[in-house]
Amino acid sequence: MRRSAVPEAVESNAVRIPFAPPPRDPRADELLGEIPAALFDEHFYLSCELVDRYALDLAYDLAHRLELAPRLLSGAWTKAELARACGFDSKFLPALGWLLERLAADGSLERSATEPAAYRAPAPLRRGEVAELRALGFEHEPELARTLDLLDAAAEAWPAVARGGTTGEQELFGAGRIGLWTAYFHNRNAVYAISNRLTAIAAANRLPATGARVLEVGAGAGSATAALLCELDARGRLGDLARYDVTEPSPFFRRRAERELRSRFAAAPLHFAALDLDRPLAEQGFAPGYDLVVGVNVLHVARSLPRALGELAGALAPGGWLVAGECLRLFPGQPVAADLVFQIFEGFLAVETAPGLRPTHGFLEPRHWRASLTAAGFVDVEVVPDLERIRDYYPRFSAGVLVGRVAGGDSPAHDESAGRRDD
Ligand SMILES: C[S@@+](CC[C@H](N)C(=O)[O-])C[C@H]1O[C@@H](n2cnc3c(N)ncnc32)[C@H](O)[C@@H]1O
Repeated sequence: MRRSAVPEAVESNAVRIPFAPPPRDPRADELLGEIPAALFDEHFYLSCELVDRYALDLAYDLAHRLELAPRLLSGAWTKAELARACGFDSKFLPALGWLLERLAADGSLERSATEPAAYRAPAPLRRGEVAELRALGFEHEPELARTLDLLDAAAEAWPAVARGGTTGEQELFGAGRIGLWTAYFHNRNAVYAISNRLTAIAAANRLPATGARVLEVGAGAGSATAALLCELDARGRLGDLARYDVTEPSPFFRRRAERELRSRFAAAPLHFAALDLDRPLAEQGFAPGYDLVVGVNVLHVARSLPRALGELAGALAPGGWLVAGECLRLFPGQPVAADLVFQIFEGFLAVETAPGLRPTHGFLEPRHWRASLTAAGFVDVEVVPDLERIRDYYPRFSAGVLVGRVAGGDSPAHDESAGRRDD
C-alpha cells in the first residue's frame, strides 16, 4: 500500500500553518452501501483534504488581492456594501459571497445573524500558503496538479471578473486554456474521477441484463463514459449494451470524446451527438426508450431543472433509471473547493431557482436533489452513497450519485452486489 508523504511534511513544518486534517473516520465506510469501501483509502482522503485546504488558502490570498482584508478588519460589511466600496461588478456578488462564507466557515470572519449577513475580521486575515501546499501535494500525489492548476487559473481570473466586462468562461476557456479542462476532467485526476467511479458503479448496478440502451448527457471529453465502459468491461458486461448514445453540446469536447472512446472501446455500440438539456429532446432527435440515462456533473447547469428532469424522465423506457453524478454540498451553504472555479461562471449562475427544489444556483444538497427527482416523477429516489448519514462522519464528502427510476417495467430491483470488489 502506498504511504502518504503528508504526515512527514507536517512534522518537518514545511507548511507554516500546519496541514493537519482530522483523521479519517472509518465509520463512514459502514454507510457506503453499494459503493466499495476500497475506493476511499487514506491516500485518497488526504488528497481530498489537501485540495480543500488549497482552495481555502487561495481564498485567503484572494481576500488580500481584492483588498477585502483591510476593509473586513475595519468593521462589518455585507457583501453588497463591500462590492460597492471595492467597485466590483454586480455579477461578481455570488463569488464574493462564497469567498466570505468560506473564510467565515474557517473561523476567521465573524458573520452576523442578520439578513443580509455582515462579515468582519476580528484579527488580520492570514496569507495563503499556496506554494507550500502545492509542494506537499506534489509529494503526496503528483496527479493532484490537475486540480491545483485549474484552481490556480480560476483564482487568477477572479480579479478581472470582479472588475467586470469578462466572465469565468471567457477567462478560462480562452486560447491555451483548454488543456486545463481536459486534464481536470480526467480519470487520472482521482479527486474529480471519484464522481465518475461512483456513477459508473451505480449505473452498472442498474443496467438491464441484456440489450441495454444508454443515453449519456454532458459527456464532455468522455471521462465518465470511459469510467462506465471500464466498469462494464471489468464485469464482462460490455456485450449487454445494445446502444450507447454519448452526447455533448460542445463540438470540441465531443470530438475528443469520440476519438478517444472509439479507439479504446472499439467493440462498444457508441454513437456521438449533440444534446442540449435546455431544449426538448424530441426536437433534437432523441426518441424515448432508454433503459439508463447517465450524466456526471451536468444536471446542475440545466437552466430549468424541472424541465430537464422531465425531459430525461420522458426519454426513459418504463422502469428505466436516471443515474447522475453530482458534486454536492452536505450542509446548507457549505462551500466546496470546486466553487472557487465555478462561482465566476455565468452558466453556473444563470439558472432558474425554486424554493425547496433548487434554492440556489450551483451545487445542491442531497435533499434538494431527492425533492427535484421526486417532483419530476421519479420513484425509488436515492443518493448513492447515503451522504445524509455519511456527513456525520465526513462532512466534506462532496461527490454522490442521484438515482431514480420511472415507474413501470418489470425489474425495479438493481444489482447491488455486482459492483462490489472488496467483498
Ligand atoms: C462538468 S462537465 C462534465 C464532464 C463530463 N461528464 C466528463 O465525464 O468529463 C459539464 C459538461 O456539460 C456540458 N453542458 C453544459 N451545458 C449543457 C446543456 N445545457 N446540456 C447538455 N450539456 C451541457 C458542458 O459542455 C460540459 O461538457
